Amino acid sequence: MIPRTTVDLGNEERNAIERVLSSGQYVKGQEAELLEEEFAQYQQVEFAATVNSGTSALHLSLLALNIKNGDEVIIPPNTFAATVNAIIFTGAKPIFVDINPNTFLIDSTKLEKKINMNTKAIIPVHLYGLMCEMEKIQSIAQKNNIYIIEDACQAHGAACKGKKAGVQGDLAAFSFFPTKNTTVGGDGGIVISNNEELILKIKALRDHGRINGQHVMPGLNNRLSEILAAIGRSHLKKLDKYNQNRRDLASCYEEKLRNLFHIELPTEPPNFKHVYHLYTIKAEKRDELQKYLKKNNIGSSVMYKEKLNELNYIKEVAGYQKMPINDEISEKILSIPISGTYSKDKIRFVCEKIIEFYS
Ligand SMILES: Cc1ncc(COP(=O)(O)O)c(C=O)c1O
Repeated sequence: MIPRTTVDLGNEERNAIERVLSSGQYVKGQEAELLEEEFAQYQQVEFAATVNSGTSALHLSLLALNIKNGDEVIIPPNTFAATVNAIIFTGAKPIFVDINPNTFLIDSTKLEKKINMNTKAIIPVHLYGLMCEMEKIQSIAQKNNIYIIEDACQAHGAACKGKKAGVQGDLAAFSFFPTKNTTVGGDGGIVISNNEELILKIKALRDHGRINGQHVMPGLNNRLSEILAAIGRSHLKKLDKYNQNRRDLASCYEEKLRNLFHIELPTEPPNFKHVYHLYTIKAEKRDELQKYLKKNNIGSSVMYKEKLNELNYIKEVAGYQKMPINDEISEKILSIPISGTYSKDKIRFVCEKIIEFYS
């Protein structure tokens, strides 16, 4: 099934495609370079490297930091499989740290216990549009001399104390997949950093290991095409508007559902700006609720149903790691509709059906 975007791609994006078609430059052109400049400016960082997916953004970040066989990388179990797959492809071992029961994000109080001589990096995942506690994570990383790669694939524009997701790690990976808060209208991604050397390495790794036309290291072909970069530049201009709409819809949910004791709504801790990539609730009788919503033509999803720590291929490299909080939460969470373009009427209808189900 082809994933459908929940954000609009219209005339401005058509014009962007036309611009590339008339230029005749389909790869390695100025659109990707301009997207790098414009995204870095949006993030207020110095450097960026476009790539062909969020997965590549993570994978190349790990390679740029020389993470390899024998190393350990810490991640939460509540994430998309791409986070863990990127680690496994470097030969390193993924080490899980359980999640905080309120935010569903990595529990920074449990991090330090998992750090040992082999730990090379932490990948905090800013899931659902909410940032992890980066100040705490940064101080633990600094104290133990380990790298941070932020997985900001679901957190374009999220912030804490005015600092955007992606600016506090050594590197940060974003996805531009069509369902994300901003997209290139296909698969795409970007890595950002204030470290020029690392970004230059990622640019070489994505382009067959070339620097200035010379092959200097083994590389891949993970470049972003010009048509997609041009669409991405156009769509990025709408990101703040769409994020505001997501926040307004979240307030609408909050207003209608806050007194319903059968469900727990997402939290936005003080000083954090949530951008609601997903609106994920904890619900009693989750599976029945999901069926009821489906019967009323309301789509919802469980992100993530598969427990990564229980998947066989992950257990083979990392052993079984018990994650009690994540286990409990994965049985109850449900992501209900939200998007940059949905109306409040649509959300009110969803709320009506949820209230109807529990009464
Ligand atoms: C948390 C997280 N990490 C990584 C990825 C991988 O991004 P992509 O699908 O662009 O490869 C995604 C995408 O869904 C994601 O949600």
